[in-house]
Amino acid sequence: MARITYIEHNGKEHVIEVANGLTVMEGARDNGVPGIDADCGGACACSTCHAYIHPDWMAKLPPVEAMEADMLDFAFATDPARSRLTCQIKVTDALDGLVVQLPEKQI
Ligand code: FES
Repeated sequence: MARITYIEHNGKEHVIEVANGLTVMEGARDNGVPGIDADCGGACACSTCHAYIHPDWMAKLPPVEAMEADMLDFAFATDPARSRLTCQIKVTDALDGLVVQLPEKQI
């Protein structure tokens, strides 16, 4: 279980406890956090689960796989230093305290 703070583009925060084994995307989608569309359902095939990871957390996440890197090219307003596809990040206890900022829009 990890407590994850999702921050909408307008600054509104949602603090959600997300079970291990779910993804960061599922934690938002299943709790009605606006800003993550997840059109492909988590198959790394749409890029509409793009979010900005707080800089303190980037190095603690699993590395970006090739497929995620390819799909990130299609996401809106990416920042190479902090953009990830949230469906590719599995929740574990180690992510307790993660802070994720949502983009202005998805593609
Ligand atoms: Fe489609 Fe993440 S939900 S790429």
